[in-house]
Amino acid sequence: MPVEVVVGAQWGDEGKGKVVDYYSEGADVVARFNGGDNAGHTIVFRDREFKFHLLPSGIVRRGVWAVIGNGVAVNPEVLLRELSELEAKGISGYRLFISERAQVIMPYHLVLDGLEEAAKGGMKAGTTKRGIGPAYSDKVARFGITMGDLLEPGLLEKKLKLAVSVKGKLTAALGENARFDLKGMLESYLEMGQKLRKHIRNTSGLLVQALERKKHILMEGAQGTLLDPDHGTYPYVTSSNAVAGAASTGSGIGPRSIDWVVGVTKAYITRVGEGPFPTELRDDIGRHIREAGAEYGTTTGRPRRCGWLDLVALSHAVDVNGLDALAVTKLDVLGGLRRLNVAVAYKIDGGRTTSFPASIDRLARAEPVYRELDGWESLKPAEWTALAGRGLGALPDAAREYLDFIGGELGVPIELVSLGPAREATIDLRGELREGPAQRP
Ligand code: GDP
Ligand code: IMO
Ligand code: MG
Repeated sequence: MPVEVVVGAQWGDEGKGKVVDYYSEGADVVARFNGGDNAGHTIVFRDREFKFHLLPSGIVRRGVWAVIGNGVAVNPEVLLRELSELEAKGISGYRLFISERAQVIMPYHLVLDGLEEAAKGGMKAGTTKRGIGPAYSDKVARFGITMGDLLEPGLLEKKLKLAVSVKGKLTAALGENARFDLKGMLESYLEMGQKLRKHIRNTSGLLVQALERKKHILMEGAQGTLLDPDHGTYPYVTSSNAVAGAASTGSGIGPRSIDWVVGVTKAYITRVGEGPFPTELRDDIGRHIREAGAEYGTTTGRPRRCGWLDLVALSHAVDVNGLDALAVTKLDVLGGLRRLNVAVAYKIDGGRTTSFPASIDRLARAEPVYRELDGWESLKPAEWTALAGRGLGALPDAAREYLDFIGGELGVPIELVSLGPAREATIDLRGELREGPAQRP
């Protein structure tokens, strides 16, 4: 049974939640390996909508084990809230395992996220203000607190004493004299630790055992390739790696266990937060896509910036993730536009390039070179769902040509096409394309 990794191939919000929910049928384990509650993954089934920030999307499938890996930064307060919301929606009997090595997002991380953003002025990333940057900074600066520490009062007190003193000075230096109550914090985090005790484990060991038993493991990425701190539009990125390689480091299984990597991309592209965006549409078409695609942040409610599909960026994602296949979502949203543009290259300072620039200033100067393609008609959601049931051949010719163009230009097969938020609105081409990941050369 394979280990599959699902990652975002753009700036996040590609529809990873939907794809992971769809793929988790038949999976034994679904594991998150990066990010924190900056993520917002939406899944829709039987007319119910779930928005997960920390919980792996597979948690709604009976019998699927949900793992929060060591690479995730956990805000335990958010996690407990998400669990009670899940139970209120009638999902019980789930199996959740949280890595003892996962970092904890503490109250001072939230304060520092705001202060650091303010200090950056025009260079701010437009973060979700969930304390993500400061929490991952603490991980590598070795100030971090782990989920396992919440079960060890002596160790937690020692670490918190140090952190509270240092963070107090840091906030003062950044212009706010925040006071952190050591005793109160200690009590409340120990209490949350007790509430989560039964879930906190050596999840790497659990995954390795699952591998030995030939279980089917699905790795759910958060954010997207262009938000990756190594490979994205740095510094307008998040603070944990979002590329496929992070599935190994963020979960504690070896890279050679990974059989198949799927990149999720919208049929267009969006970005929430700051930073250069070559194909951004600041016109009526952009506004139309935002409304038709309900492009408002799952976590922050911010309007998402919308633009034409960018194959320069997507090709970069194919390379840095080693994508085996693509899942293309939201094809329905483009319905009703007469002509569509797809960026195939950039013009920068008079030269033409198909290589995604590392410099954000060069990227900001990039003018997309577009290929114009025919659009297709606008259909109602129920009509798209009906079309999905009839397979690729039933799609409007122009929609099929659009997909063929993307797959052809990138040299990567499209194994899933999504035509709506629900499970049924999906064309699944995996049977045709995968000979079985294990036999892949
Ligand atoms: P994620 O962060 O990658 O999981 O994506 P989000 O959940 O933040 O945003 C994707 C949004 O698009 C959600 O509201 C989904 O329900 C919705 N969605 C997913 N696939 C499709 C699709 O094919 N068509 C339409 N119209 N909506 C979709
Ligand atoms: P999912 O998993 C879209 C963006 C923020 C900001 C930058 C840094 O739902 O795709 P952070 O709070 O991480 O320090 O913010 O990253 N960002 C996302 N954008 N989808 C996400 O997650 C994101 N998580 C972070 O908007 O620009
Ligand atoms: Mg999202």
